[in-house]
Amino acid sequence: TLKLGVLASGSGSNFEAIAHSIAQGQLNAQIQVLIYNKPKAKARERAERLGIPAILLNHRHFRSREALDHEIVNTFKQHDVEWVIMAGWMRIVTPVLLDAYCDRVLNIHPSLLPSFPGVDGVEQALAAGVKVTGCTVHIAKEEVDSGPILMQAAVPILPDDTSETLHARIQVQEHLIFPRAIALAALQYSE
Ligand code: GAR
Repeated sequence: TLKLGVLASGSGSNFEAIAHSIAQGQLNAQIQVLIYNKPKAKARERAERLGIPAILLNHRHFRSREALDHEIVNTFKQHDVEWVIMAGWMRIVTPVLLDAYCDRVLNIHPSLLPSFPGVDGVEQALAAGVKVTGCTVHIAKEEVDSGPILMQAAVPILPDDTSETLHARIQVQEHLIFPRAIALAALQYSE
């Protein structure tokens, strides 16, 4: 059973999709704790509904990225977390976290990496005029949105798409591949 710690900044739909996959018996894992960084994050309400402990670590209350990451590591260690799942974590992570969980930090990004890294992967794909984009789950390395790719799904861009309609179509695929990529990462790690 994989012991997961989830990091989320926003709505938490990927967090909930992983929890559902576990509940359905499709992923042999347990979410030990959710850490969120914005007091109003909807992810917190989902955690409450799912009966998963949720802890607010407001990045504004830390003097550096490293200081925040230290507290994340402390919190995860206290909760016996073995794998870190960045599910819409809109902060740059440092070696403080990446070294504490070497090769065990997973990130999801709403584009087909290495295209369109950064905060606005959906908008970048729209602006570039590509006809296909998608989502990527990868092992996080220090450079933002880089690292070995575990799984990707392609999503068509339709003529009338806005970033909202496109992001919604991408998220359907994110919710499918993230739980499967977690299982794949664990398998690869144990080999
Ligand atoms: C997801 O679409 C994820 O790919 C994206 O944030 C969204 C979070 O949605 N992450 C990034 O853009 C990271 N650079 P959620 O809170 O509903 O899971």
